[in-house]
Amino acid sequence: MSLYLALASPSCCEASALPTMAKSTFIDNLLARMSVTEKVGQLRMSFAGADLPPPTALQAVAEGRVGSMFTHPAATQAQLRSFQEYAVTHSRLGIPLFFAGDVVHGHHTIFPIGLGLASSWDLDAISVSARVAAREATGNGLDMTFAPMVDISRDPRWGRISEGFGEDPYLTSRIAATMVRGFQGQPGAVDSLMACVKHFAAYGAVEGGRDYNTTDLSAQRLYQDYLPPYQAAVDAGAGAMMTALTSLNGVPATANRWLLRTLLRQHWSFTGLVISDHGAVEELISHGVAGDGAQAAQRALDAGTEISMSDRYYLQALPTLTEHSAQARSQLDEAVRRVLSVKYDMGLFEDPFRRLQGAQPAPVQFSHPLYRSEARAIARRSLVLLKNDDATLPLKRQGTVALIGPLADNSRDILGSWPANGQPSQAVSLYQGLRTALGDRAQLLYALGANIHDNPTAFDLLADNQVVLDPRPPSALLAEALAIARQADVVIAALGEPRGMSHEGASKTTLDLPQQQRELLRALKMTGKPLVLVLMNGRPLSIVEESQWADAVLETWFSGSEGGNAIADVLLGDYNPSGKLPISFPRTVGQLPVHYNTLNTGRPFIKERPSKYKSRYFDLDPTPLYPFGYGLSYTTFSLSSLRLSTHQLPPGQSLQASITVKNQGSRSGETVVQLYLRDRVASVSRPIKELKGFRKVLLAPGESRRITFTVDQTALGFYNQDLQWITEPGEFDVMIGLDSQHLEHARFELLEASR
Ligand code: NOJ
Repeated sequence: MSLYLALASPSCCEASALPTMAKSTFIDNLLARMSVTEKVGQLRMSFAGADLPPPTALQAVAEGRVGSMFTHPAATQAQLRSFQEYAVTHSRLGIPLFFAGDVVHGHHTIFPIGLGLASSWDLDAISVSARVAAREATGNGLDMTFAPMVDISRDPRWGRISEGFGEDPYLTSRIAATMVRGFQGQPGAVDSLMACVKHFAAYGAVEGGRDYNTTDLSAQRLYQDYLPPYQAAVDAGAGAMMTALTSLNGVPATANRWLLRTLLRQHWSFTGLVISDHGAVEELISHGVAGDGAQAAQRALDAGTEISMSDRYYLQALPTLTEHSAQARSQLDEAVRRVLSVKYDMGLFEDPFRRLQGAQPAPVQFSHPLYRSEARAIARRSLVLLKNDDATLPLKRQGTVALIGPLADNSRDILGSWPANGQPSQAVSLYQGLRTALGDRAQLLYALGANIHDNPTAFDLLADNQVVLDPRPPSALLAEALAIARQADVVIAALGEPRGMSHEGASKTTLDLPQQQRELLRALKMTGKPLVLVLMNGRPLSIVEESQWADAVLETWFSGSEGGNAIADVLLGDYNPSGKLPISFPRTVGQLPVHYNTLNTGRPFIKERPSKYKSRYFDLDPTPLYPFGYGLSYTTFSLSSLRLSTHQLPPGQSLQASITVKNQGSRSGETVVQLYLRDRVASVSRPIKELKGFRKVLLAPGESRRITFTVDQTALGFYNQDLQWITEPGEFDVMIGLDSQHLEHARFELLEASR
């Protein structure tokens, strides 16, 4: 007998009479026995605090008024277990709860943040990160993660840009599908963590980059750029979808019938569960689409929001609403069916304790060494070398190295925006990583140099009150740093932002480094020592001057539990950097949005032929400082001999585009060969280039390899004015490069269909 059946005596828990029946019969039978309150309860997700369950929460569970719980950071298995015991033994029908949490870039073992994972352009590595996270989280008792976050964003003012995978729909879609499969593994398995994709839809397009602000997009832009990653996640089998807190073209996502019923259910055939973001049902009142809680609940249910996270109004309003409306009754049943179906798929009816008894087949201990080594391997692949004048990097293991900055010996911020259950005490700071890697072959000096942020009052608003600031005045911190810099052969400045600045509710109007850190870097430059800038941040920063002051710049994002080791690997050349930017680095905030896949406009800016009446700024080059797809290596690669298998492509067929990539340097390394296409003339303006393929290749010194991409009709299609997905005959440019700006070109014609 399963533990579930042992605990759930038939008299108190009818749901125990279970899964010998087919799923739909089982659900029908259960539904037929549920009261309205029990049904509504299934649509409510409550917070499971890290403390032991308070009696009221247990009471709600026993009364069937709660169907699932979320927890952040995850409560212990024992705590979750006590809730589950209550659900299966004390509630009338014994329907198990499911537990969800924000396992976004790791659970115990923390991987790089989304932008970092995306910088690796390595789907296998990303998949491993999701699988490890799933094993650890399910071992902790979680059944679902609120991830992946696949919101395209082109506005680094938005703090949550850190969580996504950048500006590009193709790259983000590939990663979205990879993460979903990685989290979910073998559906139904004990280590399968159901993916709740978020935030549907277009949360990353908030106006002005201000979190929770309005999102208003043309249909073309929505379909072409913002929707594909969610759809890719659905196609990959994601079990759930979270609605955005924002409105889309005037209608909040949580009450958006078109979004949830027409697009998601009808057009995309999504069969999973729709969950509101935290408090989003209640927020329909502030959005101005509901006059009170009852109306908010009615609109959300009617739109297709099945679970209300942190609910107030479903419980208050749905019983009365369903009493008076047959439509609401059938919508309630439909929603409950989906919740039960998800629980069934999670295997909870068979054994509600399957993820609450440490029954994993593989090691799930706290940050298992195997998982840590994966974290290190992935982290070093996520680092992007932005500049390396005079081969400043890699550093030699000799002499004296001065490591300076508020992110230098910081094992807290390095964990990034969603550290889940990751502990700073278990994370490796850059100082620790370098110390170990240098051993006694070089002297390592350290100074804080500057506090991590300049304005404690503003920062308190970010509720990240664990930051401890050094009380000494900035001049004293600077003097200490300069004193050790002068003794050193090389200076490494580890600068950036606190992780709390790249999070929910953390938008900014500047992309500059905090002022004290800028001054520190400028002063370090004045010492005349070789200067390496190691950046830790969750958004593209505007670093025009900083990139001039430093001889080498390494973007490390927030690289996770093994970040310090991974960065040391790259700084010392034990790993040759291979990361490429998944997002453009603007020169200044005033340029935003800056992304590579723009439309051409009627008056495109051409650098070589400047003229007033062009799409440009008076005061600045409109191009980014570092483009999408960019990243250096300690070796150099060349591309040659781009060839197409045909220059006349019949409709419905595909062609091959191939190119030779060569490692011209003296050390082995990896690079990312990127394929871009442009539809030259179409019924709607098409982007000047769009990523349609990529390949990460490892080449020995002197080695060359022929890389072949297949260009099929999917790569050529787009949404026309009637939002039909079509291809149109005509000329296409094929561009292949190692970033989005330096490209080899070829052209072919997509032929007309013969009549
Ligand atoms: C609100 C956030 O927007 C969402 O991403 C997160 O999953 C939930 N809170 C739960 O923590």
